[in-house]
Amino acid sequence: MGNFRKVILAYSGGVDTSACIPYLKNEYGVDEVIAFAADLGQGEELEPIREKALLAGASKCLVDNLIEPFIRDFAFPAIRANALYEGRYPLSTALARPLIASRLVDIASQHNAEAVAHGCTGKGNDQVRFDLAIASLSPELKILTPARKWSMSREELIIYGEKFGIPAPVSKKSPYSIDLNLLGRSVEAGPLEDPFSSPPEEVFQITSSVEKSPEKPEEIEICFENGNPISINGIKLDPVSLIRKANSLAGSHGFGRIDMIENRVVGIKSREIYETPGLLLLIKCHQELESLTLSSDVLKTKMNLERQWSDLVYQGFWFSPLKNALDAFIDQTQSDVNGTVKVKLYKGNANIIGRKSESNSLYISDISTYSEEDKFDHKSAEGFIYIWGLANRIWASVKSKK
Ligand code: ARG
Repeated sequence: MGNFRKVILAYSGGVDTSACIPYLKNEYGVDEVIAFAADLGQGEELEPIREKALLAGASKCLVDNLIEPFIRDFAFPAIRANALYEGRYPLSTALARPLIASRLVDIASQHNAEAVAHGCTGKGNDQVRFDLAIASLSPELKILTPARKWSMSREELIIYGEKFGIPAPVSKKSPYSIDLNLLGRSVEAGPLEDPFSSPPEEVFQITSSVEKSPEKPEEIEICFENGNPISINGIKLDPVSLIRKANSLAGSHGFGRIDMIENRVVGIKSREIYETPGLLLLIKCHQELESLTLSSDVLKTKMNLERQWSDLVYQGFWFSPLKNALDAFIDQTQSDVNGTVKVKLYKGNANIIGRKSESNSLYISDISTYSEEDKFDHKSAEGFIYIWGLANRIWASVKSKK
């Protein structure tokens, strides 16, 4: 009997998480490692991943298709929140972590495991997200984190793995660290570590370069109901198909690439390349529809809270009281967000060219127009401005007397 009878490991099939299996058994004294791999629409075959886990010494490898809950319960709330970390990153990687963590916790309880484990390093955000999510869902559950303990380079990890029957990666070694799911790809490391070096084209997989994108612009319409995208070009789509469609439309026109320096939770600045065509497009359209349908004060308050929502999700607080409270505010606003946004995709851009809402538009032509249909009472403006500026005029006259 070792120190731990049974541990559930979040498993991706990569070099690090594979090495975790023998490491947990040998260095942590775990008797049985059950690997858990989540299908989040990354487009990888999961059968080879299962085999790899078994080869590495896992007693079994559970595979779950989580694409639907991922999009419905994580991506769509992010669209409703217009979530962009530091104004740019739509959290494609960050959103997956609380879902994986919640499955880990469920599986641990079903299998009566004493601990869960992940292969995140001590430098990244993902360890924070896993640890905090797991702790929020199951405060007593132990979390084992081999990659925070070992000090092995990638090469050393491969050699270590080989000792335990894990075959070295066959494909030629990519210099990049990549995370992917249906929402997009996050790429870092290798030549990208120099913030001034431009990303080589090979970094991009799901968006076209501007050069290779179609010479003809494409106009599309996206319809929203209660803040959720429901159809593209009049065709109703379930959430997963809708994201796929948005990815292919935006991606083919070269929209959705982000090159940024971002501030990690642990205090490190890192250079990241993202490809998140569909998610970015949907957020952009959703923002536009809100500008038409939400009142000015709600809109401005929501904008402030959106920043906070994005920070919370980035920083690992998906399951937290403040996030719950912000969700309640956001959800309350979304019953008014119904309508259609028209957008032109062309050469790396997605330009909004129209918006409408039959039931919720607060744009009233009689009031907004400059034509003779104008119903706005111009005379009232005088009294309004007199009072609006009163405090300022008092201040100015006192100052001028001094
Ligand atoms: N920086 C992003 C985030 O914290 C992505 C990290 C994903 N990992 C990677 N290997 N690129 O959400």
